Amino acid sequence: MRGGIFPSAMFARRTGWPLEPNPLTLEIAARREKSLPIFDLTESNPTRCGLDYDATAILGALANSRSLSYEPDPRGPMPARLAVAGYYAERGAGVEPEQVFLTTSTSEAYSFAFRLLADPGDNVLVPAPSYPLFDFLTGLNDLELIRYPLDLDRGWRIQLETLRARVNVRTRAILLLHPNNPTGSFVQREELEALARLGREREIALIADEVFADYPWTKGGGAVGVERTGLVVDPERSRRVATHAAASDCLTLTLSGLSKISALPQMKLAWLVASGPDDLRRRALERLEIIADTFLSVATPLALALPRLLETRRAIQPQILKRLGRNLDWLDAKLRGGSPVRRLKAEGGWYVVLSVPAHRSDEEWAVELVRREGVLVHPGHFYDFAGEGFLVLSLLPPPEVFEASITRLLELVKRSS
Ligand SMILES: Cc1ncc(COP(=O)(O)O)c(C=O)c1O
Repeated sequence: MRGGIFPSAMFARRTGWPLEPNPLTLEIAARREKSLPIFDLTESNPTRCGLDYDATAILGALANSRSLSYEPDPRGPMPARLAVAGYYAERGAGVEPEQVFLTTSTSEAYSFAFRLLADPGDNVLVPAPSYPLFDFLTGLNDLELIRYPLDLDRGWRIQLETLRARVNVRTRAILLLHPNNPTGSFVQREELEALARLGREREIALIADEVFADYPWTKGGGAVGVERTGLVVDPERSRRVATHAAASDCLTLTLSGLSKISALPQMKLAWLVASGPDDLRRRALERLEIIADTFLSVATPLALALPRLLETRRAIQPQILKRLGRNLDWLDAKLRGGSPVRRLKAEGGWYVVLSVPAHRSDEEWAVELVRREGVLVHPGHFYDFAGEGFLVLSLLPPPEVFEASITRLLELVKRSS
């Protein structure tokens, strides 16, 4: 039969996504068709942002004669897992290599976590606002996504009461983003304690995504990275969780990887660390071993390169922190003195949220910015902001691109206010 009387009979319901282009995509396509320039403030692929990578170290890491043989290990080779344990040791967390599983991306690590914890129809709690991929990651694993709100007026702290009220018998995990994308807020110790208590009582695991954890800002933004050298004492920072990988009160799966730590998304190398009370952790590790053994997904040359690729973070992170700080300082200077645009406070990460007058929806702003100025930003609704008037942009573009794009954005907002 042709023509779709039963259009979805062939395919699983979980793939029934609306595939029509949205107004923003159409506007970008129209601009590209006319060969007009795009000022891309969504660019967060670090390999396209003019950073100075150590090509010899990166390519050299892949040339390892041990890659000529195949010695499968569901967790990944021991030297790689020791390097991951060493990374956490620098954050004061004791992680044993047996707690570590290599994966081909954080997304795959999420899938492993969901497969471990949840059956079809169960649900996981996800912060709002946060990263749009969670709709797909939960959907593809047949899970329901339930959002819990972060409180803008309290620096994006977790609204614990609302979160508790949204837990039900089918809740299997609570996701924590540390720091969150795009709000840049870190999980605080009191929040983790409350959630670990809840997790213990209700047999719910925590899944902590720490991909941006190495990119904290100083208080209120600006002079990014200074606090990492210990020069600035930030009282907010002392209340932050250092890493969830040391959590022992409730079953916790901590995810991270090279895409942000070493700014190498093309390497497709990430990991999951399981921690928690001894018995639960042991049972989780046994099950994760079978999940990982079913896929054995990480290629040997990459896994063996991990220790050296992880080391390259020491050269790339200072560059990124400098870039974030520079763009942020420039933006803040530009917004001083009566701009109708405001930058929301954040504590870290690669993104910044702007608040713009809400007489237009954020989608209308984004479309208008492309149409009139060629400036591309993400409307807040992509990230499930509670109201209108939020635009999300990356701080990673080279300064000249960032400045030209922001100047255009501010001009348009001023004209339309
Ligand atoms: C919060 C968060 N987690 C995970 C990822 C993706 O990481 P990976 O490339 O390892 O899948 C991103 C990408 O931007 C992200 O923002």
